[in-house]
Amino acid sequence: MKSLSELKIGIVGCGGISRAHVTAYRQAGARIALVYDVNRAAAAALAKEVGAQVADSLASMADPGAIDAASICTPPAFHLEHCLPFVRARIPVLCEKPLEISVPRAKRLATEVKKHRSLFLTAYCHRFHPPVIEARKLIASGAIGRPLFFRNMFAGKFVLRGNHRADPKLSGGGCVADNAAHAVDIFRFLVGDVTAVQAQVANVAQKEKVEDFGLLFLRGKKGCYGEIACCYSTPVATNFVEVLGDKGTITINYWVPGRPDITIRREGDTADTVIDVSQAPDRFVAEIRHFLDCVAGNAKPAVTVADGLASAEVIAAAYASAKSGKLIRI
Ligand SMILES: NC(=O)c1ccc[n+]([C@@H]2O[C@H](COP(=O)([O-])OP(=O)(O)OC[C@H]3O[C@@H](n4cnc5c(N)ncnc54)[C@H](O)[C@@H]3O)[C@@H](O)[C@H]2O)c1
Repeated sequence: MKSLSELKIGIVGCGGISRAHVTAYRQAGARIALVYDVNRAAAAALAKEVGAQVADSLASMADPGAIDAASICTPPAFHLEHCLPFVRARIPVLCEKPLEISVPRAKRLATEVKKHRSLFLTAYCHRFHPPVIEARKLIASGAIGRPLFFRNMFAGKFVLRGNHRADPKLSGGGCVADNAAHAVDIFRFLVGDVTAVQAQVANVAQKEKVEDFGLLFLRGKKGCYGEIACCYSTPVATNFVEVLGDKGTITINYWVPGRPDITIRREGDTADTVIDVSQAPDRFVAEIRHFLDCVAGNAKPAVTVADGLASAEVIAAAYASAKSGKLIRI
């Protein structure tokens, strides 16, 4: 088995999120060997930044002699096509979320991963966010009793125009496909599977082909209900997760200056208790370290292709509900 410093990584898609991947790989000691992008200039720029070679094609990159693992950082509509060469060559894959733009395409990918018994991690990075990990531990320990209600908002300003997310053929949708997909995964991680969804989507400020606002109501298998809101058009970012149980409440604040990352208040408490997670690694660093641990054979993927598929099913149900006005069972 190779050591971390001997591992050669391939990056497919050299845009925004690829930077978070390469920074974390390099921090962990792994080497970026090959990069690929349909935009040759984007590939050349990243190659220069990290001292890698530009691959001529995906096929040449999907060679176990060339790389030991690959990160897929392209728009969602390409995830199936871009993962398959690696999955078939049994090269471990870390694929960005959402898994794909439709349930049939996500299913095809899941089937191939299973068929080839390939190592595959879906990059739902919030499972590696230290406050989310802490919340899961607290819930499992019974600290807030039985979870009854989950609330999550991911709202901020994101200009769609000119980004791949504005094209539904590339993204599969707007903030619901992009941000609510994270929220659904956090719901599943903290309080269990989703059995039904009712949703509304709208273009509240940006008149593009995809929504800039979404509201989802979830019913969970273990009896917890959920409310998820997401928006691309609010300049004052509001990002939080709350889990309300029959004995207490956990609150996670994302990136709010002056507010603690995570607090808990139990029945009878007169104030919140702050939980210090400041020493834990950032979620991208933790995610990549976990992926490399899996590649080294020391761990099993914490977010599987089945998790990616489960989230895709909820998001597809949300769009179906928004269109029909009905509650959709999953
Ligand atoms: N985990 C997170 O928090 C997070 C954050 C941002 C983005 N993402 C996900 O990462 C993925 C990429 O998002 P981004 O923001 O980096 O997008 P981006 O548009 O900034 O970059 C995408 C890159 O893929 C390249 N590309 C497009 N089509 C290609 C093709 N056919 N072959 C090869 N390369 C191609 C583009 O040229 C571009 O360089 C999406 O699935 C997105 O949802 C995840």
